Amino acid sequence: MDPSDFQHFGRLNDPDSCAAIKGVCGDEMEFYLVFRNDRIHDIRFYTDGCEYTGICGETAAKLAAGRHIDDAMGVSAAMIRKEIPGLPEDHIHCSILAAMTLMKALADYLYRKSIT
Ligand code: FES
Repeated sequence: MDPSDFQHFGRLNDPDSCAAIKGVCGDEMEFYLVFRNDRIHDIRFYTDGCEYTGICGETAAKLAAGRHIDDAMGVSAAMIRKEIPGLPEDHIHCSILAAMTLMKALADYLYRKSIT
């Protein structure tokens, strides 16, 4: 995987929320979110996984970027998969990992907001 292929690859030092999940294959994904008025102002993902994991992370980030949290919660593995027509059957789990990690980062934001 070449990280320079991805516009949203990397980590953020001071995000409003973040999440990390290890997928069924052992690969890990991380998401970092910055919000302005409940809208995703900045988004980054990081993974040590394969090319398809990177493509799925980038696609999830593109689908969520700029969206209000209510809309970002609608980004699913099915939506990610639809954006990647050539995603092989044996890598569909990569889209699930990306969607799950994004969702966990959104939940982290909502939780932090509820306790401040
Ligand atoms: Fe592990 Fe893609 S091969 S998440």
